[in-house]
Amino acid sequence: MLWSQNASPLRSRNLCLVVCISLLSGVLSSLPDLSDKSCTFKVTLHNFRVILSWELKNRSIVPDRYTLQYTVISRPDGVKIVEHCSNITASFCDLTDVWEVLPETYAVMVDGFRGNTTLVTCFTDFFLAAEISLEPPEFDIVNFTDHINVNVNFPPVLPKILEELLQFHLSLIIEEQSGEIVKKHNPALDEHVIGNFTYVIDKLLPNTNYCVSVYFMPRNLEAIRRSPIKCTLLQPARDTEF
Ligand SMILES: *[C@@H]1O[C@H](CO)[C@@H](O)[C@H](O)[C@H]1NC(C)=O
Ligand SMILES: *[C@@H]1O[C@H](CO)[C@@H](O)[C@H](O)[C@H]1NC(C)=O
Ligand SMILES: *[C@@H]1O[C@H](CO)[C@@H](O)[C@H](O)[C@H]1NC(C)=O
Ligand SMILES: *[C@@H]1O[C@H](CO)[C@@H](O)[C@H](O)[C@H]1NC(C)=O
Ligand SMILES: *[C@@H]1O[C@H](CO)[C@@H](O)[C@H](O)[C@H]1NC(C)=O
Repeated sequence: MLWSQNASPLRSRNLCLVVCISLLSGVLSSLPDLSDKSCTFKVTLHNFRVILSWELKNRSIVPDRYTLQYTVISRPDGVKIVEHCSNITASFCDLTDVWEVLPETYAVMVDGFRGNTTLVTCFTDFFLAAEISLEPPEFDIVNFTDHINVNVNFPPVLPKILEELLQFHLSLIIEEQSGEIVKKHNPALDEHVIGNFTYVIDKLLPNTNYCVSVYFMPRNLEAIRRSPIKCTLLQPARDTEF
């Protein structure tokens, strides 16, 4: 159900949001350009962190700092300022411990300033569960004669939102490829996965080249973000008969 949110109610609510968030923050009358088309926003799970980034569409507008504010749609208790996302020069911000609920819509406003002037204000909203783009985790492989250990790096402490992802939504795929043959492994993960996670791909053929990539299975299959592949040639089996 969480995943079945369809786009049109989201859009019309978005319109209200733009107005509501502006009213709440009292900026409606003072804005030079009230528009939600000034920026493209992306929300990404990167190294198990929730990162919101934005890019101005008009390249000739160059703010020297940004301030982010957001509001939680199901709990409209006002606009919140995130301290570590205020007066920042980077055009991204880590919201891991701020946005803790996955099936929630967050409305965001980013102001871009230069000196005392507000150059641009961008709005968007995210239904996080559907719109977060899942970057693949870091991993490495260790080869043996007939199996490969795939070590996937999970953080030593899981942020709350990750626990939720793991409990309900997140499926890790380890893809093994040898020649034309592709096999998908889907190790069971739960919210207790922390630190490094080792998955053994066994019953492999010696003297064969294997490539491995990992990714999280998103709801929208076109949105798969595969890791770069890592390949290894297994050693020929020792001939012990002679
Ligand atoms: C981009 O911003 C500049 C400076 O504010 C403005 O003069 C120009 O018209 C904008 N271009 C577009 C395509 O909106
Ligand atoms: C950001 O900078 C502005 C202007 O210097 C200041 O008024 C504001 O309080 C700052 N915001 C935060 C959260 O530090
Ligand atoms: C910014 O605002 C402060 C206080 O309002 C003022 O003293 C300062 O001159 C302004 N700076 C610029 C570059 O306009
Ligand atoms: C996990 O593995 C990476 C490299 O593969 C290593 O740098 C890191 O220290 C390991 N973390 C834990 C918690 O074992
Ligand atoms: C592991 O792979 C490397 C090259 O990919 C190869 O030189 C080495 O012999 C392999 N080790 C085993 C135990 O298969």
